[in-house]
Amino acid sequence: MIERIRVIGIGMGSPEHVTGEAAQALSTVDVFLVADKGGARTDLVAARQRVCDALIPADHAYRVVEVTDPKRGPDADRGDTAYGQGVRDWHAARVDAYAAVIDGLDDGETTVGFLVWGDPAFYDSTIRVVDALVERYAAAGVDVEHDVIAGLSAPQLLAARHRIPLNRIGAPIHVTTGRRLVAEYDRALGDVVVMLDGGLACAELADAFPDLELFWGAYLGSSDELLVRGRVADVIDEVQRVRAEARERHGWVMDTYLLRQPADAPAGPTPTGYPETGPLTDGVVTVRPVTVGDWEVVRDEHNNEESLGWDFFGEAYTDDEARQKAAQARREWASGRAARFVMVDAATGVGAGVIGVMRMGPPGIGLVGYGVVPAFRGRGFTTRALRLVSRWAFESAGLSRLELGHKADNVASGKAAAKAGFRPEGRLAQRLPNPDGTRSDEIYYSLTRVDWMRSVGTASA
Ligand SMILES: C[S@@+](CC[C@H](N)C(=O)[O-])C[C@H]1O[C@@H](n2cnc3c(N)ncnc32)[C@H](O)[C@@H]1O
Repeated sequence: MIERIRVIGIGMGSPEHVTGEAAQALSTVDVFLVADKGGARTDLVAARQRVCDALIPADHAYRVVEVTDPKRGPDADRGDTAYGQGVRDWHAARVDAYAAVIDGLDDGETTVGFLVWGDPAFYDSTIRVVDALVERYAAAGVDVEHDVIAGLSAPQLLAARHRIPLNRIGAPIHVTTGRRLVAEYDRALGDVVVMLDGGLACAELADAFPDLELFWGAYLGSSDELLVRGRVADVIDEVQRVRAEARERHGWVMDTYLLRQPADAPAGPTPTGYPETGPLTDGVVTVRPVTVGDWEVVRDEHNNEESLGWDFFGEAYTDDEARQKAAQARREWASGRAARFVMVDAATGVGAGVIGVMRMGPPGIGLVGYGVVPAFRGRGFTTRALRLVSRWAFESAGLSRLELGHKADNVASGKAAAKAGFRPEGRLAQRLPNPDGTRSDEIYYSLTRVDWMRSVGTASA
């Protein structure tokens, strides 16, 4: 009867790579469940067996049950959604297959172990599968204890073999898969570790990033270990050849690599972020940069009849979408894409709306957008916030011209803009979409730095 499930990371298949904690855990397992993926992967089943033979004392009785892995559709031609659903269906089928074995355990067999290649935290579904098994037994009134023992992962061994750290000082490491690499690659990611790459996707980056360095390793930890290091552009042909030959010999290949910009690589176009600012206030309204904690203001400003009516699509935000928008405001600010502020009632500190400056068009131009939550409408908050943000845009952010527009019928929006000094510049026919599929004319306004300086009586325009 099942009592405990242990998920044990066994490193890269060599008994020397198994931690002391994992070795101890191995000796407590009565039945190991091993996915038999058929064909070439049989080598990996054999490697797991070697680990058990080497580390489990002879007087500890255990069985290894190979569970035929359910079939899984091809990955390469599936989009992200179909891929995710395919993996979830596959996991569900695995849970059924493992439960069938666990239900048939002999009396006295209480501890089941899963031997996980590398570390269970890296691109491995065993923990998710075990969670589902534990839930399934809990639903049937059976409490199953479970734990996870860490193992040596492929990226760790890759770094050790090449005698490098995975990151530059204080810089991030991005770990991804071959199918995502080309779409995601950006110098700002820092060092990039690529796993699960069936076709050396990094070859596609060689032209665009000729100085990118590759640290490649295959069959790490085995006697067939292969290592290549050099500029992608220089070594990619060699790696492709070595990899193809090895695959031919073994019938399978597992490789991992690190991509690194050389230290002296040109940084590339660095985004110019907006300057940091603290709260700006006129005593009645305060504006300050949006943080993730402001997500409810972001939601409430948008999710009301009037705002949805003026919106392009008329769709309310879910709480998750509002959290996401509030969370990404920090990144948008740092990259200079948008400076998003929350408007706050200075007297109470309650969030009253949002106002933002999007970078757009020629240099020096900012497009302003704003909205107030229903309880604060009609109190002049938009005009006050526009004045505060305009001052910041011209005095601190170096902008030369602010623009904004509203649907022709949205008279209140235009009045607030005009009171803050924005001048109407004309009517743009059929520019803005409506939720019902029709389009509205837009009334367009601007406020230039010169006009603003003049209006506040500053001579240095
Ligand atoms: C399903 S993931 C499992 C990763 C594993 N849990 C770990 O911690 O490394 C399989 C991928 O791990 C990498 N990998 C696993 N074993 C490897 C080895 N011996 N040498 C190089 N890469 C390996 C490869 O990128 C492979 O596509």
